[in-house]
Amino acid sequence: MCGIVGYIGKEQAASIILDGLSKLEYRGYDSAGMAIFDGEKLRTKKAIGRLKVLENITRGGETLPGCSGIGHTRWATHGAPSDKNAHPHTNAAGTIAVVHNGIIENYISLKKKMADKGYSFVSETDTEVLAHLLDYYYKGNPLETIIRVLQRVEGSYALGILFADHPGEIYAARKDSPLIVGQSALGCFIASDVPAILKYTRTVYYMDNQEIAVLRGENISFYSMDEEEVAKESATVDWDADAAEKAGYEHFMLKEMYEQPRTLEDTLSPRILDKDGEKDIVIEELNMTAEELRAVRKIHIVACGSAYHAGVTGKYVLEELARIPVEVDLASEFRYRNPLLEEGCMVIVISQSGETADTLAALRESKAKGFRVLGIVNVVGSSIAREADACLYTWAGPEIAVATTKAYSAQLAAVYLLAMKFARVRGILADRDFAALLADLKCLPDQIELLLGQKQKIQRFANRYLGARDIFFIGRGIDYAISLEGSLKLKEISYIHSEAYAAGEMKHGTISLIEDGTLVVAVSTQPALYQKMISNIVEVKARGAFVMAVTNEENREMQKVSDYCVYIPETHPCFTNSLAIIPLQLFAYYVAVGRGCDVDKPKNLAKSVTVE
Ligand code: F6R
Repeated sequence: MCGIVGYIGKEQAASIILDGLSKLEYRGYDSAGMAIFDGEKLRTKKAIGRLKVLENITRGGETLPGCSGIGHTRWATHGAPSDKNAHPHTNAAGTIAVVHNGIIENYISLKKKMADKGYSFVSETDTEVLAHLLDYYYKGNPLETIIRVLQRVEGSYALGILFADHPGEIYAARKDSPLIVGQSALGCFIASDVPAILKYTRTVYYMDNQEIAVLRGENISFYSMDEEEVAKESATVDWDADAAEKAGYEHFMLKEMYEQPRTLEDTLSPRILDKDGEKDIVIEELNMTAEELRAVRKIHIVACGSAYHAGVTGKYVLEELARIPVEVDLASEFRYRNPLLEEGCMVIVISQSGETADTLAALRESKAKGFRVLGIVNVVGSSIAREADACLYTWAGPEIAVATTKAYSAQLAAVYLLAMKFARVRGILADRDFAALLADLKCLPDQIELLLGQKQKIQRFANRYLGARDIFFIGRGIDYAISLEGSLKLKEISYIHSEAYAAGEMKHGTISLIEDGTLVVAVSTQPALYQKMISNIVEVKARGAFVMAVTNEENREMQKVSDYCVYIPETHPCFTNSLAIIPLQLFAYYVAVGRGCDVDKPKNLAKSVTVE
């Protein structure tokens, strides 16, 4: 949700900022802007539309010379996309410029107070109130002023601030929205995410909540809200810059789908022990003894969107393998429903970005109630990773496409590991069964590779449905969980209406929507449920549906009842989601491409949802 980049150093700032923003466009892309100090004053340029527009009107940054500046790419919350609502926002004199990611929750009352003092507002944003507040309190000391303003502000923020009379400095602050600071021989940077500055440096500082950073070209200082200097250790980012580039693929989403075998390998293999006859799952990050694991009586999984879908799969797998009761909640519901967390329960939050506001709030709510929280997180150093009691990283690397693919697959892998670990310590799985599961787990990366090889076949099929009005996904048990994800993938990038249903539930209302030719994607990977699924397929076919089945190679009976079959290789029924999702991702992708949609940046969406 909004991307921020700032630079101060020896080089021209505008081109560095534009380049950085181009790596953050996934966070928001309805308008963009920059403020650059040109040696005398701050010059601001903003434009509605994609970053390209800003690049064009500034001729790649040439028309805004200067070695310090801040930039922003916006995902509108308060006020529609427009030039005026684009960031940076400034005070009336244009001597203070602010870029902001987050929401100032008390902006209405602050705005009224500032208006009563004679300040006039040019935008509808919550952010503009910050520019005027800074102006109001400013007596020449930026740090003191920022602290005063932030003490009056409720909500979340990552901020980049420039003061024209302190040209050698950039100020940054954060609370509940991500912001990192980078350092290199060229100068210092602020950014919402690592890819924005990876080309220039791997040395980064992860800012903590309610911290303020002052960047002075060659050095960086951090302060608490009490104006005390804070000592911070830098971290080294260990991905290479190519990880955040398209590498010849038409879209990031396609590239990321193709990275799934490696992602699974990276997430699984460091945690699998299979040597000298010893077989185990080793998750050191859990920081829990076998006794503590055995004492867990219930698990609550909390997440949003696709991460929630990984959690739904987690429920089935954990209950099946480890026989632990699991509840799965959408984070936005969990945080406000006063959940009953009884003694012995463990909370697992799942998040690719590690910054999703609702998931973070659910984590804090659980910790405040005294419960242990495990984070399954992809972004190293993110808020959830740092605030959880323990963090199991999914080693998917940077995910740039807004629609998640490889991070979702890694989340599935993480829940399999947990389920097997719990099953092992609780003595539920016999050695032979555990060994068989382990063998199946290890085969997943190659099997995914095999399925990716079917892309042309899926593309041809997808091309037949470019004009579809509604597409339904049905499945039972674990296959219901995969239907949820397949349906979300399709609707979010192709804008075709789609719903996922537990197959047995269709006839309780939704089946009335099936018409001649409606595509129903039926996922059937659970041998115990084949016959039940066949009945459900027959029911929708009787109403005119065209059925695409995704099923196991052995289930040849499916061919007789469905119109089109995609087969997945053999694996344990608990792991089939990892395979069945591949044709569904490819299908969604090729439908979206065929319809001419902007696959990597679907309308109205942003990658990291840092607002409620
Ligand atoms: C869908 C998608 C979203 C995210 C959701 C949670 O493709 O990516 O539904 O899964 O916004 O995001 P994270 O995992 O960052 O908490």
